[in-house]
Amino acid sequence: MSEQTVHKGLAGVVADHTAISKVNPETNSLLYRGYPVQQLAAQLSFEDVALLLWSGELPTEAQRSEFMAFERAHRRLMPQVRSAIDLLPVDCHPMDVGRTAVSVLGACDPDAEDSSPQAELAKAQRLFAAFPAVVAYDQRRRRGQEPVEPRDDLDYSQNFLWMTFGEEPAEEVVDAFRVSMVLYAEHSFNASTFTARVVTSTLSDLHSAVTAAIGALKGPLHGGANEAVMHTFDEIGIRAEESREQAAARAKAWMDEALTAKRRVMGFGHRVYKNGDSRVPTMKAALDRMIDYYGRDELLGLYDGLEQAMDQAKGIKPNLDYPAGPTYHLMGFDTEMFTPLFIASRITGWTAHIMEQRAENSLIRPLSAYSGPAERQLP
Ligand code: ACO
Repeated sequence: MSEQTVHKGLAGVVADHTAISKVNPETNSLLYRGYPVQQLAAQLSFEDVALLLWSGELPTEAQRSEFMAFERAHRRLMPQVRSAIDLLPVDCHPMDVGRTAVSVLGACDPDAEDSSPQAELAKAQRLFAAFPAVVAYDQRRRRGQEPVEPRDDLDYSQNFLWMTFGEEPAEEVVDAFRVSMVLYAEHSFNASTFTARVVTSTLSDLHSAVTAAIGALKGPLHGGANEAVMHTFDEIGIRAEESREQAAARAKAWMDEALTAKRRVMGFGHRVYKNGDSRVPTMKAALDRMIDYYGRDELLGLYDGLEQAMDQAKGIKPNLDYPAGPTYHLMGFDTEMFTPLFIASRITGWTAHIMEQRAENSLIRPLSAYSGPAERQLP
């Protein structure tokens, strides 16, 4: 056996510097470019947060209007993307659709092979603007509905909901959606972001890095957990007629059984945060507003029941995916569309990291400790 120290899962390894975000588990805080994420979620549009992540500073009025016009000009579903999506089965996972769409967008991008800082930013912004139409089109085609054209009089979040549901969304719903986008945008060297940085470090292109990141995000130990949370709720059974207390009691019984069976319950736990995820209180407040808005108290019973039972049994706290899953459910998104919504948001963080990695690149290539047979000879 080798004497080398192995950092399984790279746990505790500091792989590089980043100026994009700071996760501080001790103070349970998360800063984007120095600003607390709670303040950003309370006060800024998602478009402003995207500009902050890319450039490092809040946009001026002129920069904001320029970007708003650019984003609106790139919202339409490209015919090539639509044709590619149409080739995919309607029952394939929407993350496969998202991954394929980004690949096609990359192949068709006018700056495909240009990785200069200006071209990288333009590609990131085009991808940001184009992706909502992919999610909206995919959910609608699965339901046998015609696509809905984007509207220039709506902002990013309003238009996203408009293209998905074909109805003008209520202000309360738009706000909860915006908050989720801001909270999902960036989280330092998580698995998908690190994947994007590894791909970039080979001097590959931005869309290849994002496509790979989507593959990493799909897994239930990462972004796929928001979808898995809803499967848990469905497994316990959502009963509209039930009181909050009754729902909580059934959720607690389910959790006790799941933990006895040593099941991993998605939406709980985090590699970095051990005392709770900094983003959860803000997202939970948005979920509470949606529960009030839709009058669905029984969901709160399930939510609280699971959370309390997990806390009592193992002291493990919810992560962002836990309140985000039922929030998207209440808004009317199909469960499998939840992780593609995470893509739409995280495109900002991924592309900011891709640009940062490229600016001071070093090939990411760790070592391994060999544990196979000692050298031997063929008979
Ligand atoms: N359910 C049940 N037990 C859990 C959970 C969970 N969700 N999370 C951790 N544990 C337990 C493990 O079983 C293990 O117990 P043991 O020591 O008795 O074997 C212990 O806690 C440590 O777990 P690890 O997996 O070693 O811790 P790690 O830091 O690698 O885990 C992870 C982080 C992968 C996120 C884990 O908590 C998990 O699987 N959670 C569920 C998936 C999830 O919600 N992912 C979303 C992450 S956040 C995001 O992407 C926005």
